[in-house]
Amino acid sequence: MQQTVLPAACLSGAITLPGDKSISHRYAMIASLAEGKSTIRNYSTGADCHSTLGCVQALGIQVEEEGTTVTIHGQGLHGWRKPAGPLDAGNSGSTIRMMAGLLAAQNFSTTIFGDESLSRRPMARIMKPLAEMGAKVEGTALPGKEAQYPPLTIHGGALKAIDYTLPVASAQVKTCVLFGGLFAEGQTVVREAMQSRDHSELALKEFGADLKVSKGVITLQGQPTLTGRELMVPSDLSSAAFFLVAGLLVPGSHLVIRNVGLNPTRSALLDFLVSIGAPIKILKIESTNGELIGDIEVRHAAVKGGVIEGAMAAALIDEIPVLAVLGAASEKGLIVRDASELRIKETDRIATVADNFARMGIQIEVTPDGMVIPGNQTFKAAAFDSFGDHRIAMAFAVAALRGDGPSTIDNADAASVSFPEFWNILDQAAGR
Ligand code: S3P
Repeated sequence: MQQTVLPAACLSGAITLPGDKSISHRYAMIASLAEGKSTIRNYSTGADCHSTLGCVQALGIQVEEEGTTVTIHGQGLHGWRKPAGPLDAGNSGSTIRMMAGLLAAQNFSTTIFGDESLSRRPMARIMKPLAEMGAKVEGTALPGKEAQYPPLTIHGGALKAIDYTLPVASAQVKTCVLFGGLFAEGQTVVREAMQSRDHSELALKEFGADLKVSKGVITLQGQPTLTGRELMVPSDLSSAAFFLVAGLLVPGSHLVIRNVGLNPTRSALLDFLVSIGAPIKILKIESTNGELIGDIEVRHAAVKGGVIEGAMAAALIDEIPVLAVLGAASEKGLIVRDASELRIKETDRIATVADNFARMGIQIEVTPDGMVIPGNQTFKAAAFDSFGDHRIAMAFAVAALRGDGPSTIDNADAASVSFPEFWNILDQAAGR
């Protein structure tokens, strides 16, 4: 699908976005292993979280959907059944990497595969700890590369508790190990030097697991009884990022984004925006199922620009494409370092940002682990391509709002991976 995006006069009003992708995956997976029924409200409408639901159903768990409320009839820790065929993770790295920890502990073998993009994403990062736990996971080789890519065939069996230090800051890998640890006897320990999002820790506790966190060390007691629960998913801050940047970029804008997840391991985005001069306010804040949730207000303003590096680069990794767009309009520009993980996301996001910048006449210098974007650049209308990546589709839709005429985005339907309502909400905010 090709989408046309017109320059916006201003963005205004109060908008509500779909449920958080990271939290939805975790609630669905854990609920499927809990005893009894869980009801999850505001479940993500994105295709990725529906890939997770599809996998859970294929494993014999009853799932009902009514609007954005999902009911999962968990059968306990040992309630999954061998699926009739391979599991389809679609475009979703979270589905394949987190489910792998659970599949590794089953008394059957499973194959899990994904689309073309997922089939190029590295899985050694989960295969290594799972092998230490005693699991046998076979990956597929790509030409000239080791056999670490999907499809994965996971030969399930008894797992050992391990003490694992994460070599990369990755919440997906952390979760994979903790999920395997649910089935192991004794304590599984995961150590992280740089804090990654902690939704799994909060969700496991919420379902009744015995889990402790102290100074980057997570200790999980194996073989807990998890209990079905009523849960509410906050709206996705990573989806809100597109509207925060759009509000900053388009003169006259004033937006309120309701009920957004404000978990401190995700909200570095807000800290960064405020640090470069963005007038962003949190209007209310409360806690639901251990997660913070609140309303965010943004108004148009010129921002200074800045540097994203180190722990900040890890914390902002999903938001960097749209922050790059903001950087080009900022006073001093944006430098991104220490973000080589961008190269192994749904696309190589350093390359796909640079390609789209070239189309709109924006200068960028690409580096192995980041980019240097001069500030004060003029945005021209362009024919963009998402390259099948949801965050690239939405980042350049935001850029198009500042264009000097209508822009187009090819493969715009990629946005549905995390945010199917994006185009409608954009029209609503632009008063169209
Ligand atoms: C996610 C973790 C991050 C992030 C991804 C979602 C999660 O990936 O980029 O969009 O829900 O745990 P990594 O674990 O690869 O850093």
